[in-house]
Order: sequence, then C-alpha cells, then structure tokens
Amino acid sequence: MAMLARQVQLVEYPVGEVTPDHFVTVEVEVPDPQPGQVLVRNTFTSVDPGMRLRLRRSGPAGYFNSFPLNAAMDDIWAVGEVIESRAEGFSAGDSVWHAKGWRDYAIVTAGEPALAGIATLARLDTSVAPAEKYLGPLGAMGVTAYAGIIDAAELRDGDVVWVSAAAGAVGSLAAQIAKLRGHRVIGSAGSAEKVRYLLDELGLDAAFSYREGPVLDRLREAAPDGIDVYFDNVGGDHLEAALATLRPWGRAALCGAISEYESVGPAAGPSNLFQATANNLTLRGFRGSAYQHRLPDVVRELGGWLAEGRLVYRETVIDGLERAPEALMRVLSGDTTGKALVRVG
Ligand SMILES: NC(=O)c1ccc[n+]([C@@H]2O[C@H](COP(=O)([O-])OP(=O)(O)OC[C@H]3O[C@@H](n4cnc5c(N)ncnc54)[C@H](OP(=O)(O)O)[C@@H]3O)[C@@H](O)[C@H]2O)c1
Repeated sequence: MAMLARQVQLVEYPVGEVTPDHFVTVEVEVPDPQPGQVLVRNTFTSVDPGMRLRLRRSGPAGYFNSFPLNAAMDDIWAVGEVIESRAEGFSAGDSVWHAKGWRDYAIVTAGEPALAGIATLARLDTSVAPAEKYLGPLGAMGVTAYAGIIDAAELRDGDVVWVSAAAGAVGSLAAQIAKLRGHRVIGSAGSAEKVRYLLDELGLDAAFSYREGPVLDRLREAAPDGIDVYFDNVGGDHLEAALATLRPWGRAALCGAISEYESVGPAAGPSNLFQATANNLTLRGFRGSAYQHRLPDVVRELGGWLAEGRLVYRETVIDGLERAPEALMRVLSGDTTGKALVRVG
C-alpha cells in the first residue's frame, strides 16, 4: 500500500495579511522512489519572508514562481534524513537538504536544480553542525548575508555599516560579519527587546527600534557622521533614510524589502533617489542564489566562527508541520528572532 504523507497547501491567495485560513494541511500518497530519486523524511523546513511574494497569483518578474493553489508548495528549503535511496551517491541515513519543504515526506530527484540551484539535493556534513544550521548560517542565509555585505556592498576598511532587520536570520549574520571584520555596525529592529539583543548579544556598536520615532532621526542619532554601507532588508522608509545618510561613494546592498511584501497598494518608493546621483552612491540588488560559489567560504568562515562561539545565531523553532503558516505570519510580523524554522515532527 502506498505511504501517506502530510503537506501544507495554499488554498487562496491572500490580499494583505497572511492567515492560517489561506492554507490547509492534507494527506497525500507518496509514490515509491524511482531510479535517481530518494525518499526523505523532513526534520526541519524553512520559513522565509520572500515566500509572501510567491503567495500571489502573479509575483515579481524574475523572482521564484508563485505557489499553485491546492497543490504541493515546491521550492521551499528543508533538511531531513534519507529513508530510501535509488540515487547514486545517496544512502539511507544521509542528512540532506533539498527544496521540497512544508511536507513531512518528500520524493526528491537527485541533480534536479532547485531554488536556482542553491537547494539542489545535497548531503550535509553534520560533523560541522546539526542539519538545521544548513537552513541558516551554513546555507542560503549565510550566503545571502556574506555575499551581500562582502560582494554587493563591497565592504571596505573603515566603513560604517547599517543593517536593518538586524535581529533576523540574514540581518544578524550580515551585521556580525561586518562586526567581526572590525567595522562600526549599527543595527535596527522592531522592539526594545531586539535592540537589547543587538547590543548585548551580537555586540553591535549602536542599535535602535524603528518603532520609536522616524527611522531617519534614529539613524542620525546612531550615526551622526553618516554611514558608508547600508544592508537593506526592509525597503521603504528605511531605504529612504539610508539614501539621506550615506556618505559620498557609499553603497547599499538591496537584499529585501519586507515592509512592502504585504502592502495592498503600490509600494512606497524612496522619495530621495537623487541622493544616489548627488553622492556617487551604488545601489545593488542581489540574490543569494547568484552567489552559490561563496558557499565554501561561508561554511569555512561562518562555520569556524560558529564553532568558536564568536558568531551568535538564534533560531525561533515552531513545532509541527501544520503550524508552518502560523510561522510565516510570525516572521512577517516580527514575532521571531534569528532564523524561523518549523520542526516537522
Ligand atoms: N536577496 C536574497 O537572496 C534574500 C535571501 C533571503 C532573504 N532575503 C530578504 O532578507 C530580508 C530578511 O529575511 P530573513 O529571512 O532574514 O527574515 P527575518 O529578518 O528573520 O524576518 C523578517 C523580519 O523583518 C522585520 N520586519 C517585518 N516587517 C517590517 C517592517 N514593515 N519594517 C521593518 N522591519 C520589518 C521583522 O523584524 P522586526 O521585529 O525587527 O520588525 C521580522 O522579524 C527579507 O527582506 C527577505 O526577503 C533576501
């Protein structure tokens, strides 16, 4: 008899805020793995703000595909254990990552590119760190933070750096990479508790909550002489504040624009884009998936710092596959710190 597995499916495209009612958890039959495939029992699955852009009938051009209704949600990062393998190079018991998340069991085809190639089925070295860390600092989050701050922002000696959503998965890594390389780093987040985390645990030089007054005022207090690099996770008023504060030849790495993901009307753009011209600024959008060649650097450098206890990495773990939609809501509303993960259980 075919095996039954659970998966979360989208039943309606949300307008505005996501709620669990937009999803359903269903049981489906899992076929036997065919030659070249493995059967994986997922242990953790990722929850990412960018998923909100895919909960639209038609998402941003060039981005990952929209999720279909009433079907498996593919291209979501997950880690798990191979239960049965008919693929060369994989054996039962292997820890792997792949992109068939938001379900408990998955059939995965070896070598089939997933998430622009960055989540193609691969074995994980759990002697370096537990598998779930590959959904964070040792995987896409690490590559995004590393490539964003080093390659897109071209971090240079003496740069003063501002990272927004700095208590989050990517932001906390980007801020610490800059800090561990000797820079003055300012972080911003959405609560006093997160500000304490940035100062006391991540050891940033200054931090503020964007909920306590206009972002620009708070940024100017933290960086009276301006900034050289802005790592943008938020867009909107944050990007506008950065444009007003970046010194000549400054650089902004445009990683994400979470303030716009749930907005129903047209997104608020910065009203002061001419500052880029006035001050010879570089604004560079980037995607972690375009910098996969950085993965070995990330595993070596961030993995080393992690093992030495120099890199702080918090996770917010939500238990139970059926709670994945709730976890996504929490990420979007700021009710998580560090990387949000669902323990499939
Ligand atoms: N370019 C890429 O390849 C790539 C890859 C991964 C992620 N990203 C982007 O990077 C950003 C961070 O992703 P993540 O996975 O690390 O998530 P995360 O930062 O762990 O979670 C998102 C955080 O954004 C903050 N936030 C939500 N609404 C906000 C608003 N209106 N204004 C300011 N802050 C707001 C919340 O923190 P507060 O409590 O501080 O508000 C929330 O915790 C997102 O924009 C995401 O799309 C890009």
